[in-house]
Amino acid sequence: MATFTKDQASNLDQTLRPKEWDEYIGQAKIKENLRILLTAARERGHAAEHILLYGPPGLGKTTLANLIARTLGTNMKTTSGPAIERVGDLAAILTNLSPGDVLFIDEIHRLSKSIEEVLYPAMESGVLDIIIGKGPSARTVQLELPPFTLVAATTRMSLLSSPLRSRFSGGTFRLEFYTDDEIAAILERSAHLLETELANGVLSSIATRCRSTPRTANYLLKRCRDLAQLDGSAITNDIVDRTFALLEIDHRGLHAPDRRVLEAIIHKFRGGPVGLNTIAAATGEEESTVEDVLEPYLIREGFLERTPRGRIATADAQKHLSELNS
Ligand SMILES: Nc1ncnc2c1ncn2[C@@H]1O[C@H](COP(=O)(O)OP(=O)(O)O)[C@@H](O)[C@H]1O
Ligand SMILES: [Mg+2]
Repeated sequence: MATFTKDQASNLDQTLRPKEWDEYIGQAKIKENLRILLTAARERGHAAEHILLYGPPGLGKTTLANLIARTLGTNMKTTSGPAIERVGDLAAILTNLSPGDVLFIDEIHRLSKSIEEVLYPAMESGVLDIIIGKGPSARTVQLELPPFTLVAATTRMSLLSSPLRSRFSGGTFRLEFYTDDEIAAILERSAHLLETELANGVLSSIATRCRSTPRTANYLLKRCRDLAQLDGSAITNDIVDRTFALLEIDHRGLHAPDRRVLEAIIHKFRGGPVGLNTIAAATGEEESTVEDVLEPYLIREGFLERTPRGRIATADAQKHLSELNS
């Protein structure tokens, strides 16, 4: 029997992460734009200009950042907005870069104002302004930084200040949700890497339930694989159905908390309109969870509408729930 180390488990995500451009499925426009930007920079022997990637979690931002660094043939240093607490933290990161390096800042919307202000001159003119001393005797020293490319990612574009947004001279790219065919292609590659066999039809039934999101698709594939392994079988349609039943994910990709939101609106408030705080109270979720985590997918699927008077569950939502209960 194989021994199983914690390392192998956490490395699964790394294993599935594309390492070459042709393994990165979809996002054709972004790939083409980046190819031109990065190749030109590389040919000129300059650091590429700064790049901002935004879009919902799990669509491939971190993967893209890795591919960018690979294409430039440079190292990538990774940090995140919440990890940079003090100006000194950022100064230490910036002064430790080698010429041409990629600095990846994930969740950049969580940088504080004072740190953003240190970042501006670094991005624009490649200098670090350091204030030495306090009060009337304080003075600013400018430190020249090695040329670098900032690649930043955010799930919350609206929280970025406009001065920061405007400094991504290489471009701002919004990642799109994936088509079912693209997800199927991603799953096929993942199944191959995981050395798992898939029955006919399995790809599309996982694809329709993963909310058009590669990370979720891979997660669901792994859960199906677990059950298949216990059964000593390939991933059959029966295994897929049982996995989704266990996870309480329905055929439209709704999870139990999603359905609870719709059920509350329909059964307790006659379909709405009803306020966000009332929905939160009725479902036992926080308002921000309802608004940021649950609602976006329900709205995208046409199950929920936001109106000035509150949230409404659509006729589609009613139909979906009654189908599930019949
Ligand atoms: N375009 C893609 N092609 C293939 N796999 C992808 C793609 N985008 C994301 N993935 C898979 O989904 C996982 C999550 O992607 P990641 O880059 O971490 O998303 P984000 O940083 O946007 O949250 C990756 O590990 C990878 O396996
Ligand atoms: Mg990420």
